Amino acid sequence: MRAAGIEAFGGDVHMLGLAAPRSPAPDEVVIAVRAAGVGNWDEIVRTGDWDVGRRPPLVLGVEAAGVIEAVGAEVSDLTTGDEVLTHPLPLRDQGAWAEWLVAPAALVARKPAAVSWKTAGAFPVPALTADQALTDAAPTPAGSWVLVNGGGGVTGGLAAQLAVARDAIVVATAGPRSSERVRGYGVHLVFDYHDPDWPARVRDATPDRRGVDAAVNTARGGGATAMRAVADGGRLATITGDPPPPERGVKVADVYVRADGARLAALAEAFAAGLLGLEAGASLPLHEAAAALEDAVAGKAVGATVLTLWPQVSAEKP
Ligand SMILES: NC(=O)c1ccc[n+]([C@@H]2O[C@H](COP(=O)([O-])OP(=O)(O)OC[C@H]3O[C@@H](n4cnc5c(N)ncnc54)[C@H](OP(=O)(O)O)[C@@H]3O)[C@@H](O)[C@H]2O)c1
Repeated sequence: MRAAGIEAFGGDVHMLGLAAPRSPAPDEVVIAVRAAGVGNWDEIVRTGDWDVGRRPPLVLGVEAAGVIEAVGAEVSDLTTGDEVLTHPLPLRDQGAWAEWLVAPAALVARKPAAVSWKTAGAFPVPALTADQALTDAAPTPAGSWVLVNGGGGVTGGLAAQLAVARDAIVVATAGPRSSERVRGYGVHLVFDYHDPDWPARVRDATPDRRGVDAAVNTARGGGATAMRAVADGGRLATITGDPPPPERGVKVADVYVRADGARLAALAEAFAAGLLGLEAGASLPLHEAAAALEDAVAGKAVGATVLTLWPQVSAEKP
């Protein structure tokens, strides 16, 4: 099958010619991939700093959407032809930048018809991460002040929308390109992160200038800056691997996405119901995987990037 990945950790991304995946184990499905997301996190897999459950030769990609092609003997709630999306870690076979993907059925969610392939392929990691980080930072968000640093990004945008949906008073940072869109999420106030004093301005906006009750940081290297806007005894969750040392009684969480099929299904339904939106980015053929990853790492990719894998061209099928 056609696939894109690496021969060694730290190696260049290129096309890999691999055998079609094995038959599914009793609790697995095989998905014919239509779209697979590309994010800065794939670089962490490429360098070997995120253990996704297998070693090179490794097909990269940790999220995808597609059509079920084969089901294991014990899978009762999914069948061939079902349209699904998944963040299937730890990998049972290979990664998602490939024509076929083996996934545990428990980590697979049905794709609502209203969600496009492109969105579905890019949705699982940012949506689960935003949901999990927000829950860590603000377990009971209704009525509390919640900051999302990086509201203009894919994951930050989802975190802001989820916080609004949970009745928090949401403030966010965004650049000029994104501020109008972020305001459209129902965010109370948007601050330009280019202003070095934005954390103080956030504090000034809160009652008694105490700061926000909770913050989700989605901006690279932004954990310590976001901390400055948090009230004493508040909570901060950062997804960029930069947890600042705790201070003033602020509880800090270093969040890494956890695979969760049931939660992914609920988030996809929320998207289909119009409660969440995702800024679409580039849609590229599989053989442009290396360039897509470079753009994500360089911060050049705007919106959610996907590799498209349809129609499958390999003659050999699982
Ligand atoms: N821990 C995990 O499991 C996990 C999961 C997913 C993502 N991540 C990480 O989270 C980060 C965001 O990922 P993503 O894919 O959502 O990002 P993204 O969509 O590529 O976000 C980029 C956006 O961030 C905004 N931004 C840039 N610099 C900023 C700053 N200094 N302050 C505030 N906002 C800034 C810009 O928006 P404007 O348009 O507003 O300028 C930019 O368009 C990445 O580092 C990624 O690796 C971690």
